[in-house]
Amino acid sequence: MEPQYDMDDFTKVIVSENDISRKLDSLSARIRDDYEGKDLLLVGVLKGAVMVMADLARRMPPSVQMDWMAVSSYGSGTKSSGVVRILKDLDADLSGRHVLIVEDIIDTGITLHWLLGNLRSRGAASVEVMTLLRKPDAVQVEVPVRYLGFEIPNEFVVGYGLDYAERYRTLPFVAILNPAVYGD
Ligand code: IMP
Ligand code: MG
Repeated sequence: MEPQYDMDDFTKVIVSENDISRKLDSLSARIRDDYEGKDLLLVGVLKGAVMVMADLARRMPPSVQMDWMAVSSYGSGTKSSGVVRILKDLDADLSGRHVLIVEDIIDTGITLHWLLGNLRSRGAASVEVMTLLRKPDAVQVEVPVRYLGFEIPNEFVVGYGLDYAERYRTLPFVAILNPAVYGD
């Protein structure tokens, strides 16, 4: 299949398709081990986690289950206030369940911190976090991450689920967007 993108749109590929694939191989091996004999529910956060969820879930036994949540963080200006609203809630009842939240990226950590508290209050047997990317410089709220893909620099990135104005989510890699793309 021919690539459907133009590499001039990016200044640098931070995490390649191959990097992602190998990382998911090793993370999924750990997750399969840790949850052996347990009924595991993967909770993806829309929309960014769609790609990592699909590729992680395909490395799990077919007994694994997927559910989805959509949330939005309210902020004043560029600062997130920590007020999070549920746009789409889970279908599943979490009581007694082993839950693994699957995220694309942790930036400030505010959204995930709130989500962890919210899911933990629903009586789950366990709630853990897997994130493909984390920006260490940007973390304002410490979130316990059990499974981490890559630490990346504090730059705005797109691809593999991450968007700029809803675009570039479909790229097979994670890259820094060329400022020329922002227009004028
Ligand atoms: P936070 O951790 O509460 O600051 O929010 C993280 C969310 O912001 C992620 O789930 C993404 O949707 C979005 N986000 C953070 N950094 C980036 C980026 O570099 N590119 C695209 N989206 C980002
Ligand atoms: Mg997200």
